[in-house]
Amino acid sequence: MSQANPKETKMVKVSEETHGKLKAMAKYQETMDNVIARLATQAKGLEDVVAGKSSITFIDGHEGRLLYRGYDIADLTAHSNYEETTYLLWNGHLPTVNDLKSFSEELGAKREIPRELVSILTTLPQNCDTMDALRVGVAALGVFDDPMYSQQERAMSIAAKMGTIVAAIHRHKHGQAVVAPREDLSFATNFLYMVSGKVPSEEDARLMDVLLILHADHEFNASTFTARIIASTLSDIYSAVTGAVGALKGPLHGGANEKVVEMTAEIGSPANVDAYIRGKLASKVKINGFGHRVYKTMDPRAKILSDMAAHFVRTQKEKESLEIIKGTEAILLKEKNLHPNVDLFSGLALNHVGVPAYLFTPVFAVGRAPGWLAHVLEQYADNRIIRPISDYVGPQLTAYAPIETRSPKRSRT
Ligand SMILES: CC(C)(COP(=O)(O)OP(=O)(O)OC[C@H]1O[C@@H](n2cnc3c(N)ncnc32)[C@H](O)[C@@H]1OP(=O)(O)O)[C@@H](O)C(=O)NCCC(=O)NCCS
Repeated sequence: MSQANPKETKMVKVSEETHGKLKAMAKYQETMDNVIARLATQAKGLEDVVAGKSSITFIDGHEGRLLYRGYDIADLTAHSNYEETTYLLWNGHLPTVNDLKSFSEELGAKREIPRELVSILTTLPQNCDTMDALRVGVAALGVFDDPMYSQQERAMSIAAKMGTIVAAIHRHKHGQAVVAPREDLSFATNFLYMVSGKVPSEEDARLMDVLLILHADHEFNASTFTARIIASTLSDIYSAVTGAVGALKGPLHGGANEKVVEMTAEIGSPANVDAYIRGKLASKVKINGFGHRVYKTMDPRAKILSDMAAHFVRTQKEKESLEIIKGTEAILLKEKNLHPNVDLFSGLALNHVGVPAYLFTPVFAVGRAPGWLAHVLEQYADNRIIRPISDYVGPQLTAYAPIETRSPKRSRT
């Protein structure tokens, strides 16, 4: 970011109101000059651009803090579950016992997916990309879901059915019968049950709940912003979530945890970490599971999973993988001052609860769905179409030359 030269200061008068707004936009210890420079430039990738207001999620990238509706993610993962966190994201406050009971029952009752949707999912090629299959599943749900649903009921239906769709994709991939959801199980327990056909241990179900809570929302990340843009055209909620699934598919967003698991396997043993990572850094290859656009310190989600990993790893293979990951973490911090993001540890945790690597990104989508839906509902509630402008850098008004007078030119990309 361009820094203003303090020697070249000029007094500019702004109203009390404008000053207040600029102050509110300032990040931790950010100067007013920097705030104005940030607002006046079109940073590549919209880095640091404030793209809208939201009261759902707050990220403090310097302190490494993540709050959903004001509640710290550390407290939520310690005490809450998927259902309660979803209620919180959608309603802005924690539920009472009765609120949570009826909310969970409604979510449970909406888990089953239409027969036609099962047929579509089980006719897809068994080797097709699981995110492609999920995109098809969510788009098709928009066609088969009850057209009389209210906006809130549609959100419920999508969140409730995402896990069922993903589990069906997994079962079909292995030529296994799709497992129907059970209403008597919690969301996390039922999800693992539909994946494996067996009711998981309490410990695994708890870890799954934590993973879902950790992924539930993350402010204006690429997939959520995609969902908000689609919603801002007043398109339907299924289209918004389908678009979000498409954005999440990209390896710079979802998908990094799968690569971390691949990297850990490639490294093979803790003794090889040093040479492997230094080799990658020397050839300027990015190491998955590290770096973040917003966090300038350790991603708090990574911290929670890192602390939990010390307790959940059991097998020799898991212990070695954790050692490899920790070794990688130490080198990247020392050599590049790079901190881990959630993806460094989430693959290990997902593998532990029986989720295979090809299902990591779809499971991320299951976890993120409550956040996407909260943002879509927030966008609908106070909408203006999202339509920025570009910083045009192409040619200005050019005379149209007849075809026979043109000489060959190289095409632009
Ligand atoms: C997350 C990510 C896409 C953020 O990208 P970004 O904000 O555009 O950051 P940049 O790619 O511009 O990186 C800034 C600098 O840090 C370095 N860097 C960032 N992440 C890095 C990584 N994982 N490994 C090595 N170097 C990294 C870049 O090389 C760059 O250095 P330079 O200025 O010397 O060229 C990026 O850190 C990344 O690709 N990480 C790996 C994939 C990943 O884990 N994704 C999951 C995110 S939750």
